Formats: sequence, structure tokens, C-alpha cells
Amino acid sequence: MTAQGTAPYVFWIESCEVSRIAEKEVTEMSSTVIEVLKSHRSIRKFKQTPVDEQLLRDIICCGQCASTSSNLQATTVIRVRNGDTRKKIGVLAGDQAYVESAAVFLVFCADLNRAGQACKAQGGVFEPGMTEQFIIATVDAALFAQNCAVAAESKGLGICYIGGIRNDPEQVSQLLELPDQVYPVFGFCMGYPDQDPERKPRLPLEVILKEEIYSQSGDKALIESYDEQMSQYYRSRTNGGKESSWTLEMKALVGKESRPHMQAFLKSRGFNYR
Ligand SMILES: Cc1cc2nc3c(=O)[nH]c(=O)nc-3n(C[C@H](O)[C@H](O)[C@H](O)COP(=O)(O)O)c2cc1C
Repeated sequence: MTAQGTAPYVFWIESCEVSRIAEKEVTEMSSTVIEVLKSHRSIRKFKQTPVDEQLLRDIICCGQCASTSSNLQATTVIRVRNGDTRKKIGVLAGDQAYVESAAVFLVFCADLNRAGQACKAQGGVFEPGMTEQFIIATVDAALFAQNCAVAAESKGLGICYIGGIRNDPEQVSQLLELPDQVYPVFGFCMGYPDQDPERKPRLPLEVILKEEIYSQSGDKALIESYDEQMSQYYRSRTNGGKESSWTLEMKALVGKESRPHMQAFLKSRGFNYR
């Protein structure tokens, strides 16, 4: 309890502008949440319209409300406003211009540094380098960011994750002055959409939802039909310019080494895998 006799938790909830919602309202909201989720598509062209500061804080607060393993809260979000830094990160991410042009650009970091300091402050000995903690921190950052994504989209904003920052995570970390035990998981562009792209079809539900055991029975035919759907999607999105399919994309993606520098980079930041 605080000096005023109110639990700090209540202050936090109030600061997030979350109020108690009647059960009926929750039921009505649910369909809206589902509609927002099903309408998602990444946005890569943004209007210059700024995002209201309070709305941005609410969106980040929604990220904080996500479940977090053992209440570790292993996410730190860095908002990058500096045009120079944004430009550099956009180039490092593979010339992704929207890193610079989006109204808001955030970097979501997996952060074990804060918990380590808390441990030491309590007289403990921080045990860094555990693979389990690396997983926890990475999952935490992803759940946090996805809550932000949904909150943003529910307010008419568009978003795009930028995994491209891991092309050169060392330089990104230097630009952001990240300490040991913190690594940049992905960037995140946000702003009012200046495009209305088609939604990208997903694999048939039967392929990703299994009953009781992992069975691949029937998957081949379903994936073939999905390939056809994706080919059409790419043709329509590029006016016939792109001939591809999901399996062809996977060949390009997992048929080669992917950012092979990541293991050494993570090790250099204290994520040692043991
Ligand atoms: C962790 C993560 C990293 C991503 N990195 C990039 C990126 O660097 N650049 C980009 O344009 N899109 C990026 N994306 C967006 C994906 O390409 C996109 O979500 C996927 O193709 C599905 O399309 P949709 O989001 O429009 O449904 C990323 C998505 C995730 C989840």
C-alpha cells in the first residue's frame, strides 16, 4: 500500500487508463478485437500525420499489459525520433525507407539487464547466459510488441515489424547504446496508413491446428492449394510482376543460412546459451 492507502497496482492501472468494463461491454468488444486481428496487414507506406503522444503511451501501456514470464517484464522499448539514427537503422535494415518515414519507429529489446540488476541489488549473484532466459526475454518482447500492434491497429494505425535490424545488430546496439544483457529483437514502424494492401492469406487452419498429436496427414494437398492462393496473391499485388508461392518463399528463406552472425552477436551481449 502507498502512503495514501491505495495499492500501487491501482495507480498503474489508472495511469494506463484502463477502467473496469461491464461484462456486456466486454462481449460486444470481443467481436471488435477479432475483427481487428483478422484485418491485419503490414503497412509500409505511412502518412506524415503524427501519432498523438497520449495514444502512443496507451499503446505502449497495452504492450506492458501482455503476459510476461514470471513477471520478469524483460522488454525495453526504445523510441527513436532522431532522423539521422532512423536513417542509419533503415539502411542497416536493408534500405527499408519506412523506418525513417513512419510517424513512430520503435525498437523492441529483450532485456535481462534490469532483472540482473534487481538480483544484485538484493544481494544475489546474477546467473547470465542461460538459454532459458534468452527464450523468456525474446518471447516477452514479442508478446509485448504484438499487444502494441493490436492496440495500434484498433485505433486505425498501421504497423510493420522490422526484423531487418538484425542484419547488423551490433551497429544497431551501438547506435542505441544498449548495455550488456540487452539485444534488439526487432524494430516496429507505426503510423497512419497511406496504402491499403490486401491481407496476406495464411496457411489453411488444418495445417497448423492439430488434434492430440502432430500429424502431417493431408498437409501436402492443403499446402499445394495454399501455394496456388499465394501465387495469385503475389500476381495481384504486383500486377503480375512477382511469380512466387509459399513453398518457393520457404526455399529462399530456410534453404540458406539465415543471419549467421546472430549467435556470435548474442554471445557478445551476454546471451551465451547454456
Ligand atoms: C519478427 C518480424 C520481423 C519482420 N521483419 C520485417 C522487415 O524487416 N521488413 C518488412 O517489410 N516486413 C517485416 N515483417 C513483416 C512480415 O513480412 C509480414 O508480417 C508477413 O509477410 C505477413 O504479412 P502481413 O503482416 O501483411 O500479414 C516482419 C514480421 C515479423 C513478425
